[in-house]
Amino acid sequence: MNVLEALRQARRLLPPVSDEPELEAELLLRHCLGVDRASLYRLLTAELSEEEQLRFRELVRRRLIHEPTAYIIGRKEFFSLDLEVTPEAIIPRPETELLVELAIEVAQENPSAQALRVADVGTGCGAIAVALAIALPEAKIAAVDSSAGALELAKRNARRHSVERRIRFISGDLLKTLNERVNVIVANLPYVTTADWKALPPEIREHEPRLALDGGEDGLRVIERLLQQAPGRLTPSGVLLTEIGHNQGRAAKAAARTVFARAAVKIVPDLAGRDRVLAVRI
Ligand SMILES: C[S@@+](CC[C@H](N)C(=O)[O-])C[C@H]1O[C@@H](n2cnc3c(N)ncnc32)[C@H](O)[C@@H]1O
Repeated sequence: MNVLEALRQARRLLPPVSDEPELEAELLLRHCLGVDRASLYRLLTAELSEEEQLRFRELVRRRLIHEPTAYIIGRKEFFSLDLEVTPEAIIPRPETELLVELAIEVAQENPSAQALRVADVGTGCGAIAVALAIALPEAKIAAVDSSAGALELAKRNARRHSVERRIRFISGDLLKTLNERVNVIVANLPYVTTADWKALPPEIREHEPRLALDGGEDGLRVIERLLQQAPGRLTPSGVLLTEIGHNQGRAAKAAARTVFARAAVKIVPDLAGRDRVLAVRI
């Protein structure tokens, strides 16, 4: 079997579990052969060894039983950064890049002499913290998570991108162990309702950590606690940005208003016009 035949076979097999069978077949084969995209397409007529064929079959078998491709290959691109991912943390989603863009905008509005302090709460694999450390070289960043495994993964991703000295990794429940005030709180915390979590596809429900996704009965339990803790951790005129579900704008805004009566509170939509980020400027 040559490279092209292997790709075609995987593309034929993957549609029952994948909306992007071509892309996933390519990612799995590249991982199997340890080559980049350009090399794979140069090698289309090259024969796979017996061992390579066996390895590739095993990768496709894992995908067919709903293991996400990003966990199989151990990496995912986020904000143009190649990140390590493991089941200790969720696979970073493209929609979360909006949160990073908004945090960068806020930072750039404040070209103060003092380094901006940013806390990434629920850092997971460190996607947001690492992206911000690279985009904002003057900023001091704290990355918080209650999962020890996620924090270790986030540290490895910071080392991978040479920003480990710029990020303080903090184990704890939301802002409780953050012992300073920050200018920006940026958070992608669990916001799926428990009922919706139970109905998620097996790729997510059986492989990604429930602690990272299940936000309780209305999905907003963790975000509400973050809002309650935030006043004591934000500097005057600080900003809180937190990702929310596409139908949570009204409820999230109301929750923010109960804590921040005089703040500017708004919902920022994603490119599809759906609720995506709760932004609070105190
Ligand atoms: C949706 S994931 C987001 C991960 C990462 N920020 C991203 O965008 O890919 C939520 C993260 O919040 C963490 N988390 C959940 N509850 C928490 C809490 N009470 N305190 C701190 N972290 C928490 C989880 O361990 C998980 O890593």
